[in-house]
Amino acid sequence: MLIYTDDKNLDDNVLEIAKKLNASLVNKTPSDAYLQYDSDGLSLITDPINIKSKIHVDFLKGKVSWRIKRFQHESSLKKALGKNKEGITIFDATAGFLSDTMIFLSLGHKVIAVEKNKIVFHLVSDAIRRASTKLEFINKLDFRCADSFNLYQSLKKQCDIVYLDPMYPITKKNQKKSGLIEAIKFLQRKENLVEDGEDLIGKFMMDDFKKIIIKRPLKSPKKYSNINYQVKGSTTRFDIYL
Ligand SMILES: C[S@@+](CC[C@H](N)C(=O)[O-])C[C@H]1O[C@@H](n2cnc3c(N)ncnc32)[C@H](O)[C@@H]1O
Repeated sequence: MLIYTDDKNLDDNVLEIAKKLNASLVNKTPSDAYLQYDSDGLSLITDPINIKSKIHVDFLKGKVSWRIKRFQHESSLKKALGKNKEGITIFDATAGFLSDTMIFLSLGHKVIAVEKNKIVFHLVSDAIRRASTKLEFINKLDFRCADSFNLYQSLKKQCDIVYLDPMYPITKKNQKKSGLIEAIKFLQRKENLVEDGEDLIGKFMMDDFKKIIIKRPLKSPKKYSNINYQVKGSTTRFDIYL
């Protein structure tokens, strides 16, 4: 993947991103998908001839910012977390673009969030960098690029809740396109990453945990009989295991 930037935006941050992604910096727009670094920070352009294909993570504007501002209205997520006297530590094993983690942080919890796709990780890390002076709760976030199940082996003792939201299996009904989810699928193809959400859920379910919350499509079948409770929203539900 190439990173397009110009001389006036070339800084230590983009040099570091290029190094970590093993990507080359160019000053002409590439003809295939590329990363762009400008005064707004890092973005992904999935299709150079379609200006709408730009993916930019921003916690200070748009849908996630709106969710953060009204975090107390996130009743399903709050019910899924349950009543917790003090801030707990949540292990978000499928961090993605961090929308759910932002709500956990807004609610006062600590979060260890793990994303295995390197490009998703850098798009989100750059958004964290830009938001860190405005959103104080970000100092309770530990964001890592790794396979979450492997990382969990060394961190499980400090985790009160494991949160799992792997990509839903594709069915005719849930084909509604979300830009960010489409971008993750695009990047998984680019990095030859296969996502098997059921396999990941299965591995966590067999491991030690205090509480697991699994986000699934509302009508998907219950997979494990030892379910403790469910919280249902309009299109999704949370299955909770203790
Ligand atoms: C549906 S998205 C999660 C969306 C997220 N809950 C949000 O609010 O933005 C699933 C993400 O999990 C990541 N993922 C899947 N398996 C993983 C694993 N074993 N370790 C870390 N990340 C994983 C995928 O790369 C993808 O970005």
